[in-house]
Amino acid sequence: MEGSSPVRSSKDEYSNVSLRRLDVSDIDDFMIWATDEKVARFCTWEPYTNKEDGINFIKNTVAAHPWFRAICLDNRPIGAILVTSYSGNDRCRAELGYHLASKYWGKGIVTKAVKMVADTIFEEWPHLERLEALVDVVNVGSQKVLEKAGFQREGVLRKYFVLKGKSRDWVMFSLLSTDPRI
Ligand SMILES: CC(C)(COP(=O)(O)OP(=O)(O)OC[C@H]1O[C@@H](n2cnc3c(N)ncnc32)[C@H](O)[C@@H]1OP(=O)(O)O)[C@@H](O)C(=O)NCCC(=O)NCCS
Repeated sequence: MEGSSPVRSSKDEYSNVSLRRLDVSDIDDFMIWATDEKVARFCTWEPYTNKEDGINFIKNTVAAHPWFRAICLDNRPIGAILVTSYSGNDRCRAELGYHLASKYWGKGIVTKAVKMVADTIFEEWPHLERLEALVDVVNVGSQKVLEKAGFQREGVLRKYFVLKGKSRDWVMFSLLSTDPRI
């Protein structure tokens, strides 16, 4: 209708997902998820308590990281996804990690972001044969993300890794360069 703006369905609202580099100018958006205890719960880092630490993280760690991208909605960062490479005899594999601001959970956004990474990372890094992800056994949402993105659930590694001071059981997932994409 003339003069009225088109109505956006809730599906459209979360459809414009993209990945791009995270910059210091994104600090205010970064702090939204980085200060959230719910987001940090299954991650190795503790919630940030000040902006200075966030700026230093982006300037030092993110800038030097081999593959760290902001998950963006309408080009605004709402989370992050990263691939950490290994060297030597482990160079055939890399580890995937991700986290999203809690306001956007359950909208299919990380599933979309993981599929985007799976579609590009093996071309960007031709030496890579296996992308793996370790997920806490109680982190059901993250396990569903990987299954929906075509990763294979390989099994549970008991007491494999200490998180937040406690050893925990982890589910190992993997996607091979030769696996079908879904
Ligand atoms: C886990 C996380 C990445 C999921 O991202 P998300 O964008 O909300 O996931 P999606 O919307 O793509 O969900 C995929 C599926 O998992 C389900 N799901 C998401 N969170 C869930 C939860 N907490 N419990 C149960 N199911 C959940 C969704 O409903 C969806 O299933 P469906 O398609 O059958 O409805 C997000 O909750 C997060 O950032 N958590 C904190 C950080 C974290 O745990 N990172 C991963 C460390 S391994």
